[in-house]
Amino acid sequence: MGKVYVFDHPLIQHKLTYIRDKNTGTKEFRELIDEVASLMAFEITRDLPLQDVEVETPVGTAKSKLIAGKKLGLVPILRAGLGMVDGILKLIPAAKVGHVGLYRDPETLKPVEYYVKLPSDIEERELIVIDPMLATGGSAVEAIHSVKKRGANNIKLMCLVAAPEGVEEVQKAHPDVDIYLAAMDEKLNYKGYIVPGLGDAGDRLFGTK
Ligand code: PRP
Ligand code: URA
Repeated sequence: MGKVYVFDHPLIQHKLTYIRDKNTGTKEFRELIDEVASLMAFEITRDLPLQDVEVETPVGTAKSKLIAGKKLGLVPILRAGLGMVDGILKLIPAAKVGHVGLYRDPETLKPVEYYVKLPSDIEERELIVIDPMLATGGSAVEAIHSVKKRGANNIKLMCLVAAPEGVEEVQKAHPDVDIYLAAMDEKLNYKGYIVPGLGDAGDRLFGTK
C-alpha cells in the first residue's frame, strides 16, 4: 500500500491558507500555487541519492556532494497541474515534462482523457504526477494508469489538497505509488468537490468561469 505524506512545513501551511481563501484573486492564486509547488518539491526530493565529489574553492579542495544523476520527470494533469510545474522546475531544472490531459465529466465525474505526451525514456525516470486536487481520485488513477501503460514504473503523486475518498482510490488502484500532500481535507460534497478544499483549481488558476 502506498504511503501518504502530508507536508506540515509552516510556509506550506501558511500559503495554503491564502490559496483556500475565496477572496484570493487569480494573479495571487497563481503565484501562491507556484511558491507552494517549489516548497513541496524541496520536501519531495529529500531522499534523492547523493554522490561524493571534490570541488576546488578559492581556498582549497572541499569534499562535497552532488545529486547522483537521478533522472526525474514531471507529469502535470491538465489543466490545473500546469500551475505547479514552473515552481518545481525552479528547483529541478533538468527534469523532463510530460503532459496528461484529462477532464472530469460533470455528470458522471469520470475522467475523460484527451491528450498524452510523455518523455521518450519514461521507463528510466522517476515520475512525479502532479495535480493540485485529488477529489474522487478518478483523474489521478487514470493519469497514473496512462503513464504506466507507456512504460513508467517509478511514480509519485503530488497534490495540494486531497479528500480521503481520493487517497483511498489511488491506494487501491496503484499500491506502488506514494502520495504527497499539503493537506488532507474532510470529505467530498455531492458535486465531487473537496470540502473545504479551495474550489475549482483550474478555474481559479486560469480565470475561467
Ligand atoms: C480537476 C482537478 C483534477 C480533478 C480532480 O480537474 O484539477 O484533475 O478535477 O478530481 P477527481 O479526483 O474527482 O478526478 P478538472 O476535471 O476540473 O479539469 P481542469 O483541470 O481542466 O479544470
Ligand atoms: N476539482 C477541483 O478543481 N476542485 C475540487 O474540489 C474537486 C475537483
